[in-house]
Amino acid sequence: MESRFVSNLKKSPHGLLSKVLIVGILVNAWYFYYLTFNTSNPIRVNWGFGGSGKAPSLSELNASNFRDYVRPLEMGNSSAIFNTVNDALKQRNSDIHSVGVSFIPAVIPQGTLLYHAGVAEIPDGFEWVAFDYEFSLNFGTRGRSRGRNSVGRGRFPGPGGPGSGPGGKPGADSPDGDKKEPSSGEQKEQKQNFERRTSMLTFQATRDLNKVIYFDGGSAAKSSSGELDTQQLWSNVIGKQLGDNTNETDMHMPERLYASRICEWGKPLGLDGFIRVEMAFEMVICDFSNGLELVSNTTILSNDDFVGLPAPVSLTKENGWPIGDDGKLIEDQLTEEQKQILEKEDIYGSYLSELSAGSVYDHSKAAQFRDEGERRARLDFRYMVTGINRTWLHPDPNGRRLISDAVPETVHEELVADLKTVLSSDAGFDHQLSTDWQNVAREITAKFSPMLLSIYDTLRSNEGTAQERARKASLYYTNFVRRFQDTNQSFKKSKDFAVYQYATPMVPLRTDADFLIWSAFVNVVSEVIDTVFDVSETLNPLIKSQLDGVELSDSDNVISNVLISIENLMSTLKWVELNYRCAESCGYDGFCYTPSWGPSPFGWNNPDVQGSSTIGLKWKDDFNRYVIDENQQCVNLNTIINNKH
Ligand SMILES: *[C@@H]1O[C@H](CO)[C@@H](O)[C@H](O)[C@H]1NC(C)=O
Ligand SMILES: *[C@@H]1O[C@H](CO)[C@@H](O)[C@H](O)[C@H]1NC(C)=O
Ligand SMILES: *[C@@H]1O[C@H](CO)[C@@H](O)[C@H](O)[C@H]1NC(C)=O
Ligand SMILES: *[C@@H]1O[C@H](CO)[C@@H](O)[C@H](O)[C@H]1NC(C)=O
Ligand SMILES: *[C@@H]1O[C@H](CO)[C@@H](O)[C@H](O)[C@H]1NC(C)=O
Ligand SMILES: *[C@@H]1O[C@H](CO)[C@@H](O)[C@H](O)[C@H]1NC(C)=O
Repeated sequence: MESRFVSNLKKSPHGLLSKVLIVGILVNAWYFYYLTFNTSNPIRVNWGFGGSGKAPSLSELNASNFRDYVRPLEMGNSSAIFNTVNDALKQRNSDIHSVGVSFIPAVIPQGTLLYHAGVAEIPDGFEWVAFDYEFSLNFGTRGRSRGRNSVGRGRFPGPGGPGSGPGGKPGADSPDGDKKEPSSGEQKEQKQNFERRTSMLTFQATRDLNKVIYFDGGSAAKSSSGELDTQQLWSNVIGKQLGDNTNETDMHMPERLYASRICEWGKPLGLDGFIRVEMAFEMVICDFSNGLELVSNTTILSNDDFVGLPAPVSLTKENGWPIGDDGKLIEDQLTEEQKQILEKEDIYGSYLSELSAGSVYDHSKAAQFRDEGERRARLDFRYMVTGINRTWLHPDPNGRRLISDAVPETVHEELVADLKTVLSSDAGFDHQLSTDWQNVAREITAKFSPMLLSIYDTLRSNEGTAQERARKASLYYTNFVRRFQDTNQSFKKSKDFAVYQYATPMVPLRTDADFLIWSAFVNVVSEVIDTVFDVSETLNPLIKSQLDGVELSDSDNVISNVLISIENLMSTLKWVELNYRCAESCGYDGFCYTPSWGPSPFGWNNPDVQGSSTIGLKWKDDFNRYVIDENQQCVNLNTIINNKH
């Protein structure tokens, strides 16, 4: 009885599935017919080329001749371009490959919502907005501590807010409206103002914001390790053109200077603003009156008010509390009444601290969701402006610098001149006219990262003889190689088609950036495919003899060489997807934690200040900075709460 029930259960969705499939196939067939033969009411395929309804021909570039169109590009530069495209707008990749050297044109589609916490009025100049309200809220409503924790402190030592960690700079932040650098008087006032409320303004794009530049890498880090180079060099070139000698070296927040110059310079060109990443993505809007409307204005209660707590007791000497010269509470001088008050304040304080951890958790979780990409911003790669292949840059994305003695100022000037050119078009950017190179990269990394890692791990394992391991590894690549290795074709031709398949542009290549990106993709994919085909060719004799029961004496050597070739490939590729992961799944309430530069769930991460590390980072002497550890950890609400205490 029971087993029949079980087998019925198994069968019925199967039957349903095949019915759904058949209906699906019929619908598809009809749609194909409709698209192909229905001339009376043609469906216009919008390729974006003047709406003529005709797809442009891709015929000049085909599977046999495409290599004739590839422009010269050295492998290190090809890999750097590939990673720039693949990493763009992804939280985790941007933090791992933290120094960006490119300016990528972007569009924020009409209808997109953007958030700004802080003062209640619409900014009359440039200001920061966040793509996620959790980001704005965490920055805009930093909690104050109460109870014993508040003695000698104005606010929670908690993470997430600027000023919270070593090197944290009060007020130095982004989607927080409260942007001016607070004087000590202001800070004191804020300290006392426990019931401070903040406003959350929500803006909506009333048109496509189609003149936006995205700065790749960890571009909102408060660092001097290169994350801000693209902004700084743009600002420097403008400063020089204007004869403005402001020295930002000692500025508390040079980003304000950069933003003000870039927006001013971009005004005649229609520049809408620029995008950066901190913990989640943010944008500088140059002019709030052009392309945005305010759709909501919420007054955010402090957590004390939200919970309905009485006003906090201010634990100061002036109020009669026994506080020593070291600023600490003298416990044995507390009166009975003070002890009772403190007990309550401590309980309230600890809940407020937990709520603050909840806000940090929310913000971190929103940021981690962007590991897959901030898809609300769209990239138009046709007009990418990059330092790559313009000058020598360190091949490691954490070691390269655009502002360095090795990079002549003429390169900076050329980059800014190119930005001016691409921003000068009346039409603005249009991601639909560009090949979605990031999607092409996604297909490539999704296919080959697991394949390479599986082959590598299988060959390197201790299980079985070398020949047996080769046999097992072949299960991961044979299907792939077989698909391309036509019996009648040369080896080279088979590989060429594999490259063509994985690196084909979707729209014709027109601009220099198109050719740069495509050439990089062809080179990178060629390198991968050469390696996989070589692995197949090299291991084949081992497998063959294993099947025939013949032991080959140099199998171990053969395997070592294959392992070295895969290692070399992986170190050339430098794909985040190949090297960084959490060992286990982190569950619905947790996330695989990639530290961010600046605020983090565990405090402030300063890439270039040794000793300021929180979790998940390692110091790299070569570059004199922290880099992200490949072995990532899961984080959840409890890890964040426990870290606060
Ligand atoms: C590819 O284009 C070349 C012209 O560049 C043409 O001679 C050739 O026939 C085309 N090959 C295919 C397979 O279409
Ligand atoms: C938002 O609301 C606050 C409180 O009602 C008000 O003072 C402020 O002017 C409003 N801001 C805007 C831009 O409407
Ligand atoms: C800017 O200030 C720093 C530190 O005060 C100084 O070392 C540097 O030479 C100055 N740069 C210029 C261009 O004046
Ligand atoms: C990249 O291109 C530049 C300019 O063509 C060249 O100087 C450099 O050697 C190339 N390779 C790397 C890794 O930067
Ligand atoms: C492949 O080669 C074989 C033998 O040379 C030949 O008989 C066959 O027609 C070829 N097939 C194709 C598709 O060219
Ligand atoms: C890379 O730079 C070299 C030297 O300037 C140039 O000849 C080549 O066309 C560039 N490659 C691409 C793909 O733009």
